[in-house]
Formats: sequence, structure tokens, C-alpha cells
Amino acid sequence: MNSSITPPVLKTKRLILRHLTPEDAAFILDLLNQPSFIQFIGDRGVRTLADARDYITHGPMSSYQRHGFGLYLALLKDGYEPIGICGLIKRETLPDVDVGYALLPQFWGQGLATEAATAVFTYGRETLGIPRIVGVVNADNAGSIAVLQKLGLRFEKTVRLSDDGPEVLLFAPEA
Ligand SMILES: CC(C)(COP(=O)(O)OP(=O)(O)OC[C@H]1O[C@@H](n2cnc3c(N)ncnc32)[C@H](O)[C@@H]1OP(=O)(O)O)[C@@H](O)C(=O)NCCC(=O)NCCS
Repeated sequence: MNSSITPPVLKTKRLILRHLTPEDAAFILDLLNQPSFIQFIGDRGVRTLADARDYITHGPMSSYQRHGFGLYLALLKDGYEPIGICGLIKRETLPDVDVGYALLPQFWGQGLATEAATAVFTYGRETLGIPRIVGVVNADNAGSIAVLQKLGLRFEKTVRLSDDGPEVLLFAPEA
């Protein structure tokens, strides 16, 4: 199985986080078309397995090459079941690196996003040496705001991730 040959970037109590590969296209196609993903993160226009492979290669895999980090696949240690993605993002439109995450709804409410995001946040700070890692979130995304607060981040300001995009909240470590 692909999961067993792609080495983990991080392990937590219940999760493995590893690089995405084009073989994860079916999972990504499912995750990116969840109504919650489209509502709170956006419609990436991924409708086919080929689209999902393109997303993986031009998004997360390109970020690993370019920045040395990116969004990782989160799998349950127990059975290697993929549950979501979590990792670090460097956007053209934001000076800071931000932490991102999305889980399939059937895995919500068990502390798994907090567990993954905490590990990624610590890895970014301590292993990659990124001094400031932030979170960007829609004002109506209470679940994600709760995760950012559990990371110790606090509301700092509103930002726009594109010129014509909506205002989103930027959560950052207290200075
Ligand atoms: C946001 C998301 C990752 C949270 O996943 P999760 O695994 O349920 O989060 P956790 O279980 O770690 O919950 C963290 C805290 O948030 C709280 N929480 C979760 N969903 C909530 C909601 N809808 N409203 C209020 N609080 C919520 C939990 O109660 C928990 O706090 P507690 O431990 O004090 O009870 C998940 O809902 C998701 O994938 N959403 C769609 C994608 C998305 O919005 N990503 C973030 C973009 S910025």
C-alpha cells in the first residue's frame, strides 16, 4: 500500500502525516468536494481523478519542492485510513506561513484536527525554524477558529487573500 512506502513526516498519538503523492487522487477528489471544504476553504474545481492528480502535483508536491513543506495527508495509525489533510502553506498573497487543515466530516469532533495541527505547528516552529506561523479562517468557521485558539493563536487582523476576495480573519501568536 502506498501509505506504507511513503515515509511519515510526522507521527502523533493517533495519526501519521506524510507527503501526498498522485496515488492519493481518489481521496483528494472526495475531500475537496465535501460541502464543508467548498464552503470554508473554496472550490478548487477538482472534479475528476485527473484534476485531483494535477492538484496534488501543482499544489502540495510543488510546495514540498519549493518551500520544503506543504499540506500532508493525515492517516489513522490504526489501519492507515486517510482522514484529511494538514500542513503548512506559503501563499503568494500572505507574507506569513499559515497552518491549514481539512478532515472528512465523519472524523470531526474527536480532537483529530487539533492533534494534527498541533504537531504541524510545532514541526514548523522547531524543526523548520519558521518564527511566525498564522492561521486564516472565515469568521463563520467556529470549528476552525476553535482549533486555531487551541494552538495558542489569537485574532490579529482581517486580511484578503486576493484583491477581490472576501475578508478573512488572521490568527497569530501573541507578540
Ligand atoms: C475545522 C475542522 C478541521 C475541525 O476538525 P475537528 O477534528 O472536528 O476539530 P477538533 O475535534 O480538533 O475540535 C477542536 C475544537 O473545536 C471545537 N469545534 C469543532 N467544531 C466546532 C463547531 N462547528 N463549532 C464550535 N466548536 C467546534 C471542538 O469542540 C473542539 O473543542 P473542545 O476540544 O474544547 O471540545 C473540520 O470541521 C473541517 O475539516 N472543516 C472543513 C474544512 C475547514 O474548515 N478547514 C479549516 C479552514 S480555515
